[in-house]
Amino acid sequence: MKSKILITFFALCLTVVAVTASNDSYYGKTKRANLKEEKVTRVIFFLHDILSGQNPSAVRIAHANLTGASNSPVGFGSLFAMDDPLTVGPEKDSKVIGNGRGMYISGSKDMGKFTIVMYADLAFTTGKFNGSSISLFSRNPVAEEAGEREIAIVGGRGKFRMARGYVKIKTHRIDMKTGDAVLRYDAIVYHY
Ligand SMILES: *[C@@H]1O[C@H](CO)[C@@H](O)[C@H](O)[C@H]1NC(C)=O
Ligand SMILES: *[C@@H]1O[C@H](CO)[C@@H](O)[C@H](O)[C@H]1NC(C)=O
Ligand SMILES: *[C@@H]1O[C@H](CO)[C@@H](O)[C@H](O)[C@H]1NC(C)=O
Repeated sequence: MKSKILITFFALCLTVVAVTASNDSYYGKTKRANLKEEKVTRVIFFLHDILSGQNPSAVRIAHANLTGASNSPVGFGSLFAMDDPLTVGPEKDSKVIGNGRGMYISGSKDMGKFTIVMYADLAFTTGKFNGSSISLFSRNPVAEEAGEREIAIVGGRGKFRMARGYVKIKTHRIDMKTGDAVLRYDAIVYHY
């Protein structure tokens, strides 16, 4: 009899412990965000988007059956994965300072106005911003460039945590046959 009571007592204790230990709240307290003063950094580099050859930095990973025929590898709906080197200068053997990884999709039905939408993370692997990256999520009106086009920076990592800003892009070199392009990125990054 006594042992039964003891067992019940311990069972109750365990239940109480289990109840207090469980935390069914999925959120913390909402506090004032004491953000540091916002800073701005200009970052200039070249992105090499190479589709041709044995070692391309961008590859088509999907396309729509209707528009992705061989006569138009960049037709509406074509999706590309990229791991593009970022360099200080436009030359092929220029010093690599990072890489741009992600994907871009041919996003315009109007064939005359080739536009991509980019979902990419450009990370730096050297210098002050080694380990930091900027996140792009933007339309990139490749064909509409009257010299320069603009894309949006919507976030970042490391020193660029919670970044926002924009990039002015200029085509430095493009091979219309292969699609290989070297682009100058002039980024204005607001960050904390
Ligand atoms: C419950 O979880 C929230 C969110 O993680 C946390 O802020 C809070 O301190 C937790 N409470 C207990 C009692 O562990
Ligand atoms: C894809 O296109 C080819 C040739 O145009 C056609 O034969 C095939 O049926 C299409 N497939 C689908 C799933 O629509
Ligand atoms: C960049 O950071 C990585 C990881 O912290 C480190 O291994 C590497 O040596 C750094 N490179 C340069 C050039 O500072």
